[in-house]
Amino acid sequence: MDGLRVDLTQAIHRDNVLHADNRRGLGNANLFGQKMLREWSRTLRLLRPSIMLIAEDHTGWDAVTQLPDVGGLGFGATWFASFYHDLMGDSDMADGRGRLIKTAGEGGDGPLDMEQFAGALVASQLNKVVYHESHDEAGNVLRVNRSLAEFIGVQPQALIGVNMSALLTMGNAPPPRACPFCRSTTDGDDEYIHPVLERTYLVSTSRVHGASNEGMQTIHVLKDISDRLEVEQRYRELFDNIQEGLFFSTPDGRFIEVNDALVRMLGYGSREELLQVDVRTQVYFSADGHQELARQMEEHGVVRNHEETLRRRDGSAVYVLINAFAVRDTQGRVSQFRGLMLDISGLKNFQAELQRERDFSGKILNNTQSLILVADTAGLISYANRRWQDMGYEQKQLLGRPLEHLVAPARRTILTEALSATLAGRQVDNLELQILRGDGRIGHFSVNLSPMRDEQSHVISLVVVMTDVTDAASLQSKLMHAEKMAAVGQLVSGVAHEVNNPLTAILGFADLLMENPELPESARKDMRVILQEAQRTKQIVQNLLSFARQMPPQRKALQLNPILRRTVQLRSYDFQSHGVEVIEHLDQELPSVIGDSHQLQQVFLNILNNAYDAVGETGRPARIEIMTARKGNSVEILFRDNGPGISHPDRIFDPFFTTKEVGKGTGLGLSICYGIVHEHGGEILCQNNTGGPGATFVVRLPATPETASVGAAAGVIQR
Ligand SMILES: Nc1ncnc2c1ncn2[C@@H]1O[C@H](COP(=O)(O)OP(=O)(O)OP(=O)(O)O)[C@@H](O)[C@H]1O
Ligand SMILES: [Mg+2]
Repeated sequence: MDGLRVDLTQAIHRDNVLHADNRRGLGNANLFGQKMLREWSRTLRLLRPSIMLIAEDHTGWDAVTQLPDVGGLGFGATWFASFYHDLMGDSDMADGRGRLIKTAGEGGDGPLDMEQFAGALVASQLNKVVYHESHDEAGNVLRVNRSLAEFIGVQPQALIGVNMSALLTMGNAPPPRACPFCRSTTDGDDEYIHPVLERTYLVSTSRVHGASNEGMQTIHVLKDISDRLEVEQRYRELFDNIQEGLFFSTPDGRFIEVNDALVRMLGYGSREELLQVDVRTQVYFSADGHQELARQMEEHGVVRNHEETLRRRDGSAVYVLINAFAVRDTQGRVSQFRGLMLDISGLKNFQAELQRERDFSGKILNNTQSLILVADTAGLISYANRRWQDMGYEQKQLLGRPLEHLVAPARRTILTEALSATLAGRQVDNLELQILRGDGRIGHFSVNLSPMRDEQSHVISLVVVMTDVTDAASLQSKLMHAEKMAAVGQLVSGVAHEVNNPLTAILGFADLLMENPELPESARKDMRVILQEAQRTKQIVQNLLSFARQMPPQRKALQLNPILRRTVQLRSYDFQSHGVEVIEHLDQELPSVIGDSHQLQQVFLNILNNAYDAVGETGRPARIEIMTARKGNSVEILFRDNGPGISHPDRIFDPFFTTKEVGKGTGLGLSICYGIVHEHGGEILCQNNTGGPGATFVVRLPATPETASVGAAAGVIQR
């Protein structure tokens, strides 16, 4: 409520005798008036109107009717009061004049202090927002209040007698009627909005009887509501034009007010249509969703960035972000939700798309066979794909570590150079690096480094893709070795054949000479040396031929354990006499292999001889371990010694490579082994022991497949 008008307060004064009906007497009437005033003020307390108008006839009461300049209140037959604060409001704020009604309202039944009343009226005149004037039936101004006069810019008395139409021309164009504020001459009172002098006023009109000599009088109260209207209009414009959906709704699921944006967002034809819907079931997909909103409103009085999937009119989903607050009634119950909805469907779809893309790239990164790293410009790892787990690293354990630490120390300078090249914007391809696995072993990797750039095309990080080429590298070195061996074998067999024929002749003629009785004893002695050395040469040639696989091999299913035992027995005397301990771990379930037992015995013997030579070199108690085991489809025979270890692991299978003194070794032993083992479809490897001194030789031969044993027995070669 904006205002309240109370008429007939004169009952308290001049006419009280009439109103008392002469029955109860004046005293009673006054008492009645006081009570009325009290009830009235109590009502005002409840209603708290912003304007109060009191109209009363005070003709002949100078203190009220005379102009303020000469000590009166400035009102004629009628007067009015605005801003009930002045009358009854805050007694502690107003300087006593507001206490009148407070006293009347709360105090006892004592007489009213009219002076205070008058003070309040004077004060109310000064309020600029309220204009008061009154005029007679001809439209001549009888009274104006000071604030109207001030607004026009003249003294109040200068306006008395001026016609209302003239009054208005003081500000603007002449109005069509005598009084522009009188809308209907018949209506006693009405209220309407009227623009004057670029402002907008709420005009309240009352018509009262003046004193007996004055006819009907009209009071217009003009309340300047321009600001309020402007504010209202601004809010309305904002509400209507904002692109976010705005709503006022009730907790039980009705929209009270919605803007066009919300109507569009929810796919409705008009506001009216949307105002009809049941929010809980038609806008929410389930009543629980609305229930949850209501719960949060009840609990916190506000929801912030609440994500919700709402149903559009056509049933499709719209993702919204709700920001709203609760409005409570005087009992503190939530009576309304007011807020804003943001359509985030686009954002949601974009997010989903992004997520799909991220998942897709994540899958590629984690399922590729390559190891992928991202390092920052300082060379610190900022990302590692899941493949690194196979390398023995936890992904997070790698983060923040220098990339350099993953590379074997000998290759670090190469990496550093590659890193600076990449940071300078160049791509580095197929860099051969030795990378440390989580367990400390080294793997061979082909590494590609690419710069990653930002929008300004500055290099911000490096992408490192590594491919494990360990197997390929070892395969390649094996291949190279095999090729070398084949070439050497060809050469050796050619030479051996050529040497063999003259050697046979030398041996033959030397034998003949030895049998000649005419040979003097001194010559016979020399002859014996020639024969011996020629035989030794023959042996070497035989060995060379066997390395070059010129010996026709036999193929039989063989048990290796007995062959190994026999081989050890051949050397057991030497082993015992030189304190060499031989330990056998022979797998009793060892599958058979197909091959030539003499040749394989020669392989084992050569390896054992070497081991025997090796363990004799060190001062420590000598030990040779022999182990057999099945490894997949192969049989593995291991010879592990505790000698000094191999000094040239890459050359020991070459023919004539020896570290032994002249006459002690020819350097053919292992090359013969190599030839035989390969002829059997197997391989021979060596390595220095990791957990202690010495070397280990491994001979791997294909195990006889169970079903193929018949074929093997029939002499079919299994490869
Ligand atoms: N168990 C071992 N420990 C250390 N070094 C070894 C071992 N076995 C072989 N070698 C090295 O390999 C070289 C070549 O061995 P290989 O058997 O081919 O020739 P050799 O023993 O020197 O002479 P040959 O066997 O012809 O009498 C040896 O001279 C030795 O340096
Ligand atoms: Mg040897």
